[in-house]
Amino acid sequence: MIKVGLLGAGRIAGVHATAISSHPGSTLAAISDYYPETAEKLAKQYGSTARTTEEIIADPQIDAVLIATSTDTHSDLIEAATAAGKAVLCEKPVDLSLERARACRQNAARTGQPVMIGFNRRFDPNFGALKAALDAGEIGQAEMLAITSYDPAPPPLAYVNVSGGLFRDMMIHDFDMANFIMGEPPVTVFAVGSCLVDPEIGKAGDVDTAAVTLTYAGGRIATIRNTRRAGYGDQRLEVQGSKGMLQVGNLVENLVVKSTTEGVVSAKPVLFFLERYMPAYRAEWNAFVQALNSGAAMPVTLDDGVAALAMAEAATRSAKSGQPVRLADV
Ligand SMILES: NC(=O)c1ccc[n+]([C@@H]2O[C@H](COP(=O)([O-])OP(=O)(O)OC[C@H]3O[C@@H](n4cnc5c(N)ncnc54)[C@H](O)[C@@H]3O)[C@@H](O)[C@H]2O)c1
Repeated sequence: MIKVGLLGAGRIAGVHATAISSHPGSTLAAISDYYPETAEKLAKQYGSTARTTEEIIADPQIDAVLIATSTDTHSDLIEAATAAGKAVLCEKPVDLSLERARACRQNAARTGQPVMIGFNRRFDPNFGALKAALDAGEIGQAEMLAITSYDPAPPPLAYVNVSGGLFRDMMIHDFDMANFIMGEPPVTVFAVGSCLVDPEIGKAGDVDTAAVTLTYAGGRIATIRNTRRAGYGDQRLEVQGSKGMLQVGNLVENLVVKSTTEGVVSAKPVLFFLERYMPAYRAEWNAFVQALNSGAAMPVTLDDGVAALAMAEAATRSAKSGQPVRLADV
């Protein structure tokens, strides 16, 4: 039984608390938060114990930590936990700074402790089935990828302010998905970003609407589109191959289709990431537990985290300059 300390007790920590405590191979031994009362509330809900982050990291009884704290703490906590001999599953992104993330990768590697980065969408059953069909050669060679990744509403401004911006916070999932599907990093990243949803996001120096084109060494192309305002929720993937196409559409709330003289109406997509990706968060945790128990390599590594962050950095620079940015230059 893996004894787990959950660092952070905010929005995503609740999702992880469910996955950890309901898994037969893990137990939620302790929860911390910068605000102790927040940790206590979540601990009470899951029959766990609230402790400080430092106590959890120093406790030799705890085998692994799940880092679900604000992004600017991730590298420090990965280093502290691995140095204390713990396995780590850390939420995306690795850090706000690419340079800091690269240093963290080096420091964590020296400890020899396993670290997994929480790109949960790789574990979505539908995206996984698409990837398996692609790898089995069912549509030949992938030539174009299109990712549509729209959130229903922006997060609170306080979150936006510490998130590192849309490319590092939100589109990072799609950069990782592009790497997962295409199997290699792109050569160039060309980004455009606008503030169309909330002027306060613009005042904070961020964008809420963005499109990115990735180009690959052999001429393959990927496009990614994000908005923080699609009140119906929208998460789709499409891969065009040399022999056909693979698509994953939206998951819908139910399969009822109502046809009347007024028109044909079906249910809307499962709205927000917390519901849309719950099976993926559970599968992600299961993959972590299995890798830890078997001693196999973690399925998503710090290298993957740094690779996606480099693309986010390139996109941020490209959107500012209006020019494509070569990944080799970041
Ligand atoms: N994989 C996903 O789908 C997904 C979804 C949402 C958020 N995230 C990531 O998860 C992280 C947290 O996001 P959130 O939405 O839960 O934010 P949040 O603000 O709701 O929660 C973060 C919590 O961390 C706490 N915290 C900060 N420093 C701490 C420390 N040193 N020790 C203990 N607690 C500390 C804060 O008090 C807060 O309660 C972010 O890095 C975000 O990018 C990932």
